[in-house]
Amino acid sequence: MIKNFYEKNILPPLLNCCCGTKPITYQRKKIIPEANGDILEIGVGSGLNIPFYDKNKVSKIIALDPSEDLNAMAKIKAKANDLNIHFLTGIAEDIQIPDSSIDTIVITYTLCTIPEPEKALSEIKRVLKTNGKILFSEHGLAPDDKVVNWQNKINPIWSKVFGGCNLNRDIPSLFKAEGFVLTYEQMYLPSTPKFVGFNTWGEAKISSHD
Ligand SMILES: C[S@@+](CC[C@H](N)C(=O)[O-])C[C@H]1O[C@@H](n2cnc3c(N)ncnc32)[C@H](O)[C@@H]1O
Repeated sequence: MIKNFYEKNILPPLLNCCCGTKPITYQRKKIIPEANGDILEIGVGSGLNIPFYDKNKVSKIIALDPSEDLNAMAKIKAKANDLNIHFLTGIAEDIQIPDSSIDTIVITYTLCTIPEPEKALSEIKRVLKTNGKILFSEHGLAPDDKVVNWQNKINPIWSKVFGGCNLNRDIPSLFKAEGFVLTYEQMYLPSTPKFVGFNTWGEAKISSHD
């Protein structure tokens, strides 16, 4: 794929910086240590979740992302944290992994960006074991009309600057539409502009039994 200068040189460090704020790091600490068994991280990006995996619970981690530049940044963090991660260059809409093979899927600040989130969630469901779980933390559609207005206004330019990120996706609805059962919390992150700070985090399962 031919990449322009911005996508190759500016976007990766920009995403690493914007996704590395204190409030977002705090969100990561809430969910990532719960990952166990065979783990698939969707849209691993620059690897900002890597320091928070509990090594005692991890069998293996597969890290999927279409960006080789971001994968390279994540590889450095994997080495620094002594975690054996298999990097897979690819997209969530077409996951090259067998059915029902993953115990935990991790997805953070990525459902906003995936071009076809419905297709991605269908693929996620396919690769997840029946009793597996998805740990997620995402920004998305705010509950207040005023904020939503801003989200809709800013979104076209925001999306261009931040590599396809959307401000106004309704995260719980996306999961529910694919039939997932959710346990989640929501709030505006502190010290973060409201239009990008409404955060939903928690766990999604294929069924509520177990
Ligand atoms: C805002 S970054 C978040 C990165 C990381 N998950 C985090 O929490 O810091 C969004 C990520 O989604 C990835 N991405 C974009 N399109 C994707 C797709 N179709 N499937 C999987 N990941 C995708 C980007 O390459 C980027 O790494």
